[in-house]
Amino acid sequence: MKSVLVIHGPNLQMLGRRKPSVYGRVSLAAINEQLRREARRLKLKLEIHQFNHEGKIVDAIGEAPGRHHGILINPAAYTHTSVAIRDALEGAALPAVEVHLSNIHAREGFRHNSLTAPVVAGQITGFGPHSYTLGLQALASLLK
Ligand code: DQA
Repeated sequence: MKSVLVIHGPNLQMLGRRKPSVYGRVSLAAINEQLRREARRLKLKLEIHQFNHEGKIVDAIGEAPGRHHGILINPAAYTHTSVAIRDALEGAALPAVEVHLSNIHAREGFRHNSLTAPVVAGQITGFGPHSYTLGLQALASLLK
């Protein structure tokens, strides 16, 4: 069975309470439950983490080769700032999909650029919690 590392970036532990007008009222626990259901259907194993610290994300990505076959990541604010996460994804060289709940291209200018998008297979942005299920489906097809 193929294994997928799921990484939720900073502040996503507050989902459901944080700016519901932008991020909705669904909690991170509910998103993870939805991901686990979809993973069972797609016959994938998941390891899910939420990290607020950039270095922990870099560590997890760096340890992924040999343990996981693909990465599903919402780098959150680090999307727009982190050369370190970008380089970690590039170095790990595993199929990866970037997801965002909100449509980052329809928001403030500083969110339009993703440093990570060029080193992942693709980006899914703007579908709320459904972005994660779409991302997992995209990754599943890459891992076939
Ligand atoms: C986000 C978008 C980012 O710009 C923001 O910093 C987040 C969440 C999203 O899922 O819509 O924390 O990645």
